[in-house]
Amino acid sequence: MTDGSGMPERPGLFSLVVAADAKRGIGKDGTLPWKLKGDMRWFKELTTCPDATEVLTRYLMNIGFRDKRTHTWDSLTARIGGAPALKDWSPAARNAVLMGRKTWDSLPARFRPLPGRLNGVLSRRLPPGVFQGSHHVWSSLQAAVEELERDPTVTNIYVVGGGEIYAEALRHPGCGRIFLTDVDGEFPCDTFLPPFGPEFRETAISPLVEESGVRYRFRLFERAQPG
Ligand SMILES: NC(=O)c1ccc[n+]([C@@H]2O[C@H](COP(=O)([O-])OP(=O)(O)OC[C@H]3O[C@@H](n4cnc5c(N)ncnc54)[C@H](OP(=O)(O)O)[C@@H]3O)[C@@H](O)[C@H]2O)c1
Repeated sequence: MTDGSGMPERPGLFSLVVAADAKRGIGKDGTLPWKLKGDMRWFKELTTCPDATEVLTRYLMNIGFRDKRTHTWDSLTARIGGAPALKDWSPAARNAVLMGRKTWDSLPARFRPLPGRLNGVLSRRLPPGVFQGSHHVWSSLQAAVEELERDPTVTNIYVVGGGEIYAEALRHPGCGRIFLTDVDGEFPCDTFLPPFGPEFRETAISPLVEESGVRYRFRLFERAQPG
C-alpha cells in the first residue's frame, strides 16, 4: 500500500473520519443527528481522493494557527468551485472505507456501495466475503486492515463508523489519524465517539463553517511518533 497523501509521514495503517458534537455525540436512532451538506461533501472528497493533502488544502486547513474567519457553506463552496479539480480515483488507486454493519444498513440503498471507494463492512454475523461485487464483509477490524494493507490498489484506509467500530479503531495501534468534524453545540444523540488520548495531537484545522445555523470546523489529529 502506498501513501498518496504527499505528507512527509503517515503514521498508522488507517485513519478515522467522524463528525461529533460538543459531547462527542455522533448518531441518533440509527442515523446522523444533523444534515450538513458541507460535511457530506468533505466526507465524500476526503474518502474518495487518493491524495488527502489536496483535500486538506481545498478546505483551507491551516497548520499552526487558528483562523478566526467564519465561512458560510455557500462562500466556502464558491472558493472550492474555483479550486483545481481533485485527483480522481482509479481502480488501481482508490481508498477503502470500513464501517460497522449498522452504519452500512443505515445508508440508503441508492447510495451504497459508496462510489469510487472499496466498501468494507464489519460484522460478526454475516459471512465474510465479497458480495454482489459491491462490498466486502470482514469479521474483524484486524482482518480487514491486514487484507487491505496488502492490496496494492488501495491507497488509504478510512474507518467511517459507527460508534462500536470507532471504539475499536481508537484502541488499535494502527490508528494514525483522526479527521474530526467538530460540530458546535449539543444534539440529541444515542451513539457517541469515545474520548481519544493526548497521543493524538491536532495538526491542522479549518476556519469555522456555518450552515443552517450550525457551526462546525474540520480538524486533523495525528498520533505522535514515539520518541
Ligand atoms: N457522526 C458520524 O461521523 C457517524 C459515522 C458513522 C455512523 N454514525 C452513526 O453511528 C450509529 C451506528 O453506530 P453503532 O455503534 O450503533 O453501529 P456500527 O458501529 O455502525 O455497527 C455495529 C455492528 O458492527 C459489527 N461489529 C462491531 N464490532 C465488530 C467487530 N469487532 N468485529 C466485527 N464486527 C463488528 C456488528 O455487526 P453484526 O451485528 O452484524 O455482527 C455490530 O452490530 C448510527 O446512528 C450512524 O448514523 C455516525
